[in-house]
Amino acid sequence: MQSPFLLENESAYQAWRSRKLENYPTHAAQLIVEVGDPRNLTQVEYEAILGRCRKTNMAVYAGTTGADPDKAIPRLLGKRLGLERLDCNMLADNDGLTSLKVVESSPRQGYIPYSNKPIKWHTDGYYNTPARQIWGLQLHCVQSSAEGGENALMDHEIAYLLMRDENPDFIRALMQPDAMTIPARVEEEGVARPDATGPVFSVHPKSGDLHMRYTARTRSIAWKQDAATLAAVAFLERLLGSDTPYIYRARLESGMGLICNNVLHDRAGFNDSPDKKRLLYRARYYDRIAGTGVSEVYGL
Ligand SMILES: [Fe+2]
Repeated sequence: MQSPFLLENESAYQAWRSRKLENYPTHAAQLIVEVGDPRNLTQVEYEAILGRCRKTNMAVYAGTTGADPDKAIPRLLGKRLGLERLDCNMLADNDGLTSLKVVESSPRQGYIPYSNKPIKWHTDGYYNTPARQIWGLQLHCVQSSAEGGENALMDHEIAYLLMRDENPDFIRALMQPDAMTIPARVEEEGVARPDATGPVFSVHPKSGDLHMRYTARTRSIAWKQDAATLAAVAFLERLLGSDTPYIYRARLESGMGLICNNVLHDRAGFNDSPDKKRLLYRARYYDRIAGTGVSEVYGL
């Protein structure tokens, strides 16, 4: 398998790289697709969303459902794009989606996703076991906050590309199976779990697709203490803190949503008001968006 994401495949990498960067969007507006009802996309709407996902691993849709809280809105859109196998965390609602909002009572109280605090750069499920890696992610906004709550977004394949261009040793370090450990019993989202040790970058053995586990958190994380890993992590931190045009910033308003192959993202802090209390649905999947695989898009 000639995945461009394996370091030994230099010519496949160069071929993928030049096509990836060709006409690569540099403004968040280019990610946005206006649709009618996300539960029932037209073929044109579907193709517009899919096309963006094939290029940047993400799309933002702006539908006409407003503050309609129907969970079928994200679920049916996800299904149309091939996202089916939901990851259900302990605090998910009964249907497997998670309602992200400010919660002032247990068990969610005290966990950052259920607060109005900023969330640092990460991919979702970075503490999941290898068997339960998150490949697909959706956010759907029912109600935006009175102010704040923007997301920054970066295609993880672009992060990989910029790191590999700078120094392939960064990639080698972050592909080590013990590069990043989230210690046991960290109570992020209230889930008790064993040590989660694994690489940052990994390549799916069959599809050749790239997966990324990452968090910019600085507490309760153990990076491999070798010079190469620490240099790679420092470079990635600088990249995510820079004003590169590859970082998009967008605020989801009522009826809008993000569908992506678990790209890097953060969230700004926000403030609710009595009639503008932020509510987002989140769905995590073991699937990538159908038709966006590296072999399907690039024929490698
Ligand atoms: Fe997230």
